[in-house]
Amino acid sequence: MSTKQARTEAISETLGKIRSELADGASDAALSAARAHLIELAERADLFPRSDFPLPEEGKNERTFLIQEDADGSYALYVNSGLKGQTTRPHDHGESWAIVVAVEGEERHRVYRRVDDGSVDGRGEVEVIDEINVRPGVGICLPESGIHSIHADSEQPLLHLHLYGRSFANQSTRTEYDLDDGTTHSYKLRRLDFIEDAR
Ligand SMILES: [Fe+2]
Repeated sequence: MSTKQARTEAISETLGKIRSELADGASDAALSAARAHLIELAERADLFPRSDFPLPEEGKNERTFLIQEDADGSYALYVNSGLKGQTTRPHDHGESWAIVVAVEGEERHRVYRRVDDGSVDGRGEVEVIDEINVRPGVGICLPESGIHSIHADSEQPLLHLHLYGRSFANQSTRTEYDLDDGTTHSYKLRRLDFIEDAR
C-alpha cells in the first residue's frame, strides 16, 4: 500500500471516531475528545512525509494542503507546512470549530475571549484566556465562537494538521481583532487558490 493510500485510510478511520464524538454538537468536551483522536493520527509521522508536504520556497512562510473534506464542505482537514515566522492577529473561523495538532514542530497559540458586547460596529476587544504550545502530543481546540492567534517562533519547521468543522470556502464571515487600536476587521476568505489539493 502506498503512503497516500495508508494515509487516506487512517484519515477516514480517525474521522469516523471524530464524527461520533461530535454527533451531539461541538461542545468543549466533545472537541477535546476529538482532539485526542487527531493527536493519535498525527503521531503516525510516517503518514505525513515531507516529500508529500514540502516546505514553502524561500521568502514564503507556509503551504496549505487539503487532505480531506466531506462533500458538503464539512470536516475539512489541512496540512500546514511552514517555517518560522507565521503570525496572525486574533481571529475566529467564521462560526467553524477548529482543532490543530502537530506532526512536527511547535507554534504558540493564544486563545482569547471577547470582552465587549459587540454593539459598536468595527470595534471589539478581546483578552487572552489561555496560551498553548502546539507540539507533538499537544493540540488546541476552539469552539465555533473561538478566537486565537498564532505565533510560530520556534526554529523547527512545522507540519501541523488543522481540522475545521467547515472548510475555508464554507466558513462564514471571520472577524479579526486589532489589539493596538481595538478595531475589528470582518472578512470572507475569498482567495483560496493557495490551497493545494493533496487528497
Ligand atoms: Fe486560525
